[in-house]
Amino acid sequence: MNDAMTLSQRADALEQQMSRELDYIVIKSRIYSLAEGDMNPPPNAGAIMAQNPNARVLMGDDPRLPAMPEKPTLVDFFKYRFGPATHVLQSARHAVNAGLPEKMVLACLLHDISTMGFIRGDHGYWGAQLIEPYVDEEVTWAIRAHQVLRFYPDESVGYEYPASYVKTFGADYRPDDYVDQDYKRMRDHKWYMSGRMITVHDIYSFDPNLHVELEEFTDVIGRHFRQPKEGLGFDNSPVAHMWRAMIRPAKYL
Ligand SMILES: [Fe+2]
Ligand SMILES: [Fe+2]
Repeated sequence: MNDAMTLSQRADALEQQMSRELDYIVIKSRIYSLAEGDMNPPPNAGAIMAQNPNARVLMGDDPRLPAMPEKPTLVDFFKYRFGPATHVLQSARHAVNAGLPEKMVLACLLHDISTMGFIRGDHGYWGAQLIEPYVDEEVTWAIRAHQVLRFYPDESVGYEYPASYVKTFGADYRPDDYVDQDYKRMRDHKWYMSGRMITVHDIYSFDPNLHVELEEFTDVIGRHFRQPKEGLGFDNSPVAHMWRAMIRPAKYL
């Protein structure tokens, strides 16, 4: 590699070198490159294969990631894709201690699965969509709402704008207009308080000494998450492809 290469050419060259060492070629989805601020066209699979005719682009499981069972359950995703799940486990425990109904404990347990396994921005909307076919509508609504409500205080339940947000986003940060619009719609909704409860039990400062096992919630998941018998990703639901994207995030096509 020489110095005349741009950063992205260097990354491509490194990727090609790695592909030679492996026997498969990873071509990332555009969204990963965009997240790197990289507008370059994707590496050319044909050119890489020309240098290593035995290599193939990934169309199956990614050997770099833990193997998933053929019919993955929600718990399998926690184990092989989402972990460590300390934050949501602590949130769910917090909700149990406050005496929240099981449905809401599940909502707290699942409220951040998108940041844990999929996409960060708008994670409440993505997370709600991921589980929509499998949970009570109120759970989905609440998870979508937490995305928005966490930016707005509610004195009636002692929820303040998180101090950590002032630090991480800056004191002058204001939510986007679409968030503000959603807040106005959500605050009058019959399930407002369910969404609000997620924000109340959203533990912003994780306790490093509090260890919570997922097994604590096996029964809650069993009673309130309709696990498809074909496995998440393979049940022909409107969101099955989203779960498959987490199973094989570098699948070529
Ligand atoms: Fe969240
Ligand atoms: Fe959270």
